[in-house]
Amino acid sequence: MSGRFIVFEGGEGVGKSTQSRLLAEALRARGLEVITTREPGGTPGAEAIRALLLDLHGPGYGARAEALLFAAARADHVETLIRPALARGAWVVCDRYLDSSRAYQGGGSGLEDADILTLHSIGSAGLLPDCTVLLTLDPDEAAARVAQRDAGGLDRIGGRPADYHARVAAAFLRYAAAEPERFALIAADGTPEAVHARVLAAVALL
Ligand code: TYD
Repeated sequence: MSGRFIVFEGGEGVGKSTQSRLLAEALRARGLEVITTREPGGTPGAEAIRALLLDLHGPGYGARAEALLFAAARADHVETLIRPALARGAWVVCDRYLDSSRAYQGGGSGLEDADILTLHSIGSAGLLPDCTVLLTLDPDEAAARVAQRDAGGLDRIGGRPADYHARVAAAFLRYAAAEPERFALIAADGTPEAVHARVLAAVALL
């Protein structure tokens, strides 16, 4: 038996981590084994790379080095956590994955999508989620949620200018339109419970 791999994607402040937690709780209530994890990170090796990438006091990297580091973190995460969990029949709910690399390093920073997919093929043998839940939210509302959450300041990528994040949001929508069978597009406005109900309806189809 093999588990299911569900990823939450979207820009900053759309509620991915809250929705990951609520979905995991609902799946556990059905008696399933569920792992919740996040990217960049999720394993000791990948969390070490996360610190390099996101810490404001870190060295800072160009777009290509950044894309390679995200792919390296993902390779460790897939090999040591995600694949073993799926193989034993667990469900994996992950906050961000490959489509974040495509949207940020591709859409935001201008790298070719084909190159990012090649890195994913080398690093993680191209493992894709069974379902990618793309949470969409009006940019002003997302910014207000981020301001409330990250009062201590944004990380190195979250703090990039609004036009960068607008390109990221547009790229996510392009990928979702191109692969409707892999994506569920969910409006992230309203209460966490209302959004969770929309997510459950989408995931029930799996
Ligand atoms: P995180 O604090 O997890 O972001 P958020 O809470 O906003 O979801 O930080 C992850 C940051 O890294 C976020 O700005 C998106 C970025 N990122 C990439 O640029 N490429 C990637 O492949 C991934 C996984 C994340």
